[in-house]
Amino acid sequence: MAKGKILVTGGAGYIGSHTVVELLLSGYQVLVIDNLSNSTQLIVDRIKQISGKEFIFYKEDLLNFSNIDKIFSLHNDILGVIHFAAYKAVGESVEKPLEYYENNVGSLLNVLKLMKKHSISNIVFSSSCTVYGQPDVLPVNELAPIKPALSPYGNTKQIAEEILKDTVYSDSLFKCISLRYFNPIGAHSSALIGELPNGVPDNLVPFVTQTAYGLRDELKIFGSDYDTPDGTAVRDYIHVVDLAQAHIVAMGRMISGKNKNMFEVFNIGTGNGFSVLEIIETFIKVNNLDLNYKIVQRREGDVEKVWADTTLANKELGWKAKLNLDVMLESAWKWEKTYRESL
Ligand code: NAD
Ligand code: WQD
Repeated sequence: MAKGKILVTGGAGYIGSHTVVELLLSGYQVLVIDNLSNSTQLIVDRIKQISGKEFIFYKEDLLNFSNIDKIFSLHNDILGVIHFAAYKAVGESVEKPLEYYENNVGSLLNVLKLMKKHSISNIVFSSSCTVYGQPDVLPVNELAPIKPALSPYGNTKQIAEEILKDTVYSDSLFKCISLRYFNPIGAHSSALIGELPNGVPDNLVPFVTQTAYGLRDELKIFGSDYDTPDGTAVRDYIHVVDLAQAHIVAMGRMISGKNKNMFEVFNIGTGNGFSVLEIIETFIKVNNLDLNYKIVQRREGDVEKVWADTTLANKELGWKAKLNLDVMLESAWKWEKTYRESL
């Protein structure tokens, strides 16, 4: 039996597409709104191919309030919203802060206004470990202080969490779970969907896979003089399918009324830190490939090391990441290769 209808904004994007697959497979009806500013119709079709299920897709911009209002009016049975839609390139946000504030904050405001107008209670929000900056204590838990944002992008996540908290506390209609993702990588095991960076990738793993495919000459390791075991920076990488499943659990928690507070925050990571060199070595090992890389200076604004304390998510959500680094890096390479060969 269908479990009810979930609106997924940005559902054609990297994390959104994997989440829509998991929602469909767990019996939800899905409605996606995405303007395809960072995805394509191909991904929409492939979600259907993987899941063997249909869903409703609107190519629409969340900043267009009246058009989005019409979609909400047509679907008066939405149980909750998973809000992924946003711009996410840290460097670009420094160049184009107004676009980032407008899109990331403006879209959220429209979604919340329309949820209120149409009496929809539940929202899962895509937040980020970037709100912790360089934490004083590792692993970092949800009570750690929010540090000043290092980019307009990071600031939009902090502002969004404040907006959500104020909205939830102003009106008993609302419940929110904000998921603070650590570093999502990897792709669906079918290799039909995965990360599709626009232009030169900012993030490590897409840069690694594109270099291995021959699209980039060499990978630059940003800094080897950090206070870490091998000198390169450490992150908590999480498989995108594990991350997707956390959204299904979070939405289910609010729908079934199991949430303890109206506004809840959970770290979504594995709890393990890996260095840049460990990522490269594992990628080479599991895929039996060579990779051209060299060490260069640190990248401005990078934190030295961060990994999650996931105790709260494990205990309260009953969610735990299952897929290890080998699987993450195998699936990332399989996706890159399959996608490039299909072009
Ligand atoms: P993505 O760019 O692949 O997906 C975002 C989707 O939203 C895209 O398909 C894009 O077309 C759509 N979109 C953007 N603005 C829109 C608008 N105004 N109207 C309609 N659709 C719009 O990004 P992702 O990696 O899947 O990230 C999803 C969310 O998770 C974002 O909010 C991002 O900030 C957050 N997040 C991502 C990471 C990461 O490393 N990927 C880490 C932490 C948090
Ligand atoms: C990982 C590590 C780099 C590229 C960013 C955002 C953050 C979040 C995830 C959304 C770092 C190193 C990278 C390269 C390298 N997004 N690196 N060579 O910096 O942890 O986080 O994406 O919220 O907000 O800031 O991820 O993948 O860019 O980098 O050496 O070509 O790999 O220095 O140590 P990061 P990343």
